[in-house]
Amino acid sequence: MSISIPQLPKGTRDFYPEAERIQNYIFDTWRSTAESFAYEEYEGPMFEHLELYTGKSGEEIVSQLYNFKDKGDREIALRPEMTPTLARLVIQKARELKKPFKWFSMPRLFRYEKAQKGRLREFFQLNMDIIGTESIYAEADLMAAIATMLRKFGLKDGEFAIGVSSRKLLATYLEEIGAPNPALVYPVLDRRLKIGPEAFAKALADAGLSEDQVKKLDDFMSCKSIEEVKTKVHSENATAALAEIEDLFATLTAAGYGDCVNLDLSIVRGLAYYTGIVFEVFDKGKSMRAIAGGGRYDSLTEKLGGERIPGVGFGMGDVVLADLLAEHNLLPSPKQSVDFYIASFTNDMKKVFETAQAFRSASTGKPFSVAHPLSAMKMGKQLDQANYQGAKIVVYVDGSKASAGEFEYKDMRTGEMFVGNMDAIVKRL
Ligand code: HAM
Repeated sequence: MSISIPQLPKGTRDFYPEAERIQNYIFDTWRSTAESFAYEEYEGPMFEHLELYTGKSGEEIVSQLYNFKDKGDREIALRPEMTPTLARLVIQKARELKKPFKWFSMPRLFRYEKAQKGRLREFFQLNMDIIGTESIYAEADLMAAIATMLRKFGLKDGEFAIGVSSRKLLATYLEEIGAPNPALVYPVLDRRLKIGPEAFAKALADAGLSEDQVKKLDDFMSCKSIEEVKTKVHSENATAALAEIEDLFATLTAAGYGDCVNLDLSIVRGLAYYTGIVFEVFDKGKSMRAIAGGGRYDSLTEKLGGERIPGVGFGMGDVVLADLLAEHNLLPSPKQSVDFYIASFTNDMKKVFETAQAFRSASTGKPFSVAHPLSAMKMGKQLDQANYQGAKIVVYVDGSKASAGEFEYKDMRTGEMFVGNMDAIVKRL
């Protein structure tokens, strides 16, 4: 009888240490940037009641839910996104939380999608959100953070772009051309560039739009500048929505991010809860799927039964980001690297453990990483291990040239040998 070995579930990843090192580099950069913009970290459960998503997030995401009945007959879903959880947290403490506030989280999410490049069934997503203000400067803060973060990863302005649109503006245009029910039209508009012009026209016709309305909408979504849009929309609401976008761009330009943002009315976003500015971040030339996406959701807490509390934020997935960084050769080496390897000519393990411990606590900052053999072995083998583990310095606990309080040591980066006390060795790092 043959037993098949266990298989990795479709759309999931294993993180062997080399992959986990890169993953942690992404998490560290996400976290340090969010903290440098004064966002506070929060978390929630990985599963929620199914009804948190149904009817609020939009059809697409609900069709991708991993859901099941638990042993108490409750309908449960693994979280496909963080925003509904955030809204729940906000509603629960609506009175206590001092608004506005800025929070971030790096949840593991689950979507039953067709696994393909840039899309998996389990992934991580940085979420940054600002709750409790309708000000456009919240959008500016989020976009500045995105640009700062992508620059920190080593991408140059021009290698990525934050495309900005506005559902408010789109809604006023739909009204101006007399289009029916925007809620039905948004999911179609979101797929415009993915499905091609014919399928797009057909889907809009199915939603009740005439040929002329489809043509107008297509022209509108192709607008590349605010000036161009101004020639097409005239209502007071549209003018206000445009003025908001102009203010956003001017603010970002003043802060040095002008080259990172552009108007892109083809962006609609698939999620149902967005009410204002929506945005997506793409690599240059949009050759990959979106790196990040987000927008303003001023009525989500209300839809979930709480009071109306405005919010805006975005999610940035780890998958497309890592693909893009790899393409630009911007991922760090996945190899292990330790500060010291403690070796012994006589396999004096007590001395090895004692010295390793002394070196670990010799740092005044982050503790040094210290490795050593775990069984008796020849010096050649110990040096092999030191090399493999990326040790910077090998310290010999029983070198014959060292006097009391000193060690022989080898700088593995240059191959040079020295004799000195712990202070001297630490300085050499
Ligand atoms: P979303 O557009 O569904 O928005 O996802 C945002 C980003 O998460 C995408 O641009 C992509 O990088 C990544 N992502 C989404 N699905 C997958 C997948 N199956 N595999 C890998 N990466 C994926 C939201 O989730 C909103 N809740 C974001 C938000 C936060 N809006 C306001 N605050």
